Amino acid sequence: MIKLGLIGCGVMGKAHLAGIASLGNRVVVSAFADTDAERAGKFAAGTPGAVWDTDYHKILNSADAFILAVPHDLHYEMVLTCLKAGKHVLVEKPLALTEKECLSLIELDSSPDPVLTVGHVLHHDPIWQKMGEFIKGKAFGEVFQLSIWTEQLTDLSRGAWIGRADKLGGGQLFSHGCHYIDLMLDWLGEPVFGCHIGTNLGTPWMEREGTSNVSIKFASGAIGYHMGTWGARGSSHGYSVHAHCTEGMLELSSRKGTISFHRDPSGGDIPAMTKEEAKISPSETVLYKADKSVGKHVAEQLEAFLQCIEQKKKPEISAKLAIRSLRVIWALYDAENKGTLADLRGI
Ligand SMILES: NC(=O)c1ccc[n+]([C@@H]2O[C@H](COP(=O)([O-])OP(=O)(O)OC[C@H]3O[C@@H](n4cnc5c(N)ncnc54)[C@H](O)[C@@H]3O)[C@@H](O)[C@H]2O)c1
Repeated sequence: MIKLGLIGCGVMGKAHLAGIASLGNRVVVSAFADTDAERAGKFAAGTPGAVWDTDYHKILNSADAFILAVPHDLHYEMVLTCLKAGKHVLVEKPLALTEKECLSLIELDSSPDPVLTVGHVLHHDPIWQKMGEFIKGKAFGEVFQLSIWTEQLTDLSRGAWIGRADKLGGGQLFSHGCHYIDLMLDWLGEPVFGCHIGTNLGTPWMEREGTSNVSIKFASGAIGYHMGTWGARGSSHGYSVHAHCTEGMLELSSRKGTISFHRDPSGGDIPAMTKEEAKISPSETVLYKADKSVGKHVAEQLEAFLQCIEQKKKPEISAKLAIRSLRVIWALYDAENKGTLADLRGI
């Protein structure tokens, strides 16, 4: 049985604890750490036999593997300490705050002994996986425009660190957008150039951008667009994806938990459907329906982490993979500061 320690008992710590409950007796939560004694104590009180401390160093000997769900500026030092102590690590995204820090963790990474994996949770969520399969498999032809919207309200109720650029490593794009830049790279391949425009208008609690617009041109010719905001006071999009393909449009709606295919049967100025196609697909066909809520597939992510530990497998979401989206974001930020386009070739 694997002994698991949880460092950071905030919003994501809670989500991880709930996810662990579904993993049965392969794992036991043996230790908690949080600088907020009340939070750590409360988590431990609900977990028989678990120890807790406000200093994570003091619980290092109480577990084989650690989940790190703490502010981003702490990721580097905590991953380093845990790996040096021979502990398996699942660190929430982003891996670390700078390229130098990420590279030194990549160098130290000897997965699967011990395992180091990064919490890009959407890779473990069936609806996002299915969307990726449709796009990469060219199920409806070539994608020429991929648009991703993530509209939510994230204010300082989570903790003051969320608004601070030095603790977050940037703004909304770095913190949350990294999930979607990562998916774009996976789905559309090699990026060529791109730009970012951000603002904190509407999210004055954010030192850097709370709303972010990214456009990237890919080597295939496709354009990827991402709009993420932490200032939405209302939204019909929620988290949505439109993939315009040469044979129609794919839509992922996290609100509905569906992936739909749209094609205008009347033709218009696009090729009309054949009668057979129109029978199958009037104008919108639901291709996929999620069987549970979309978004927090931490249990599936933990399952993948456990399998790597138990079967001595290298993790799919390695430190080396996780640095790619961050490199794109750093290049986009840099170009935004200079007022130019970012050269993304070779990233
Ligand atoms: N994948 C996702 O969907 C998702 C969503 C939200 C957050 N996250 C990530 O999870 C991580 C944590 O975010 P959160 O929203 O849970 O933040 P949070 O503020 O709710 O929780 C962070 C916790 O860390 C504790 N902490 C601070 N310094 C510490 C230290 N030195 N030692 C131990 N504990 C310390 C805080 O007291 C707090 O309880 C971040 O990396 C964030 O990007 C991921």
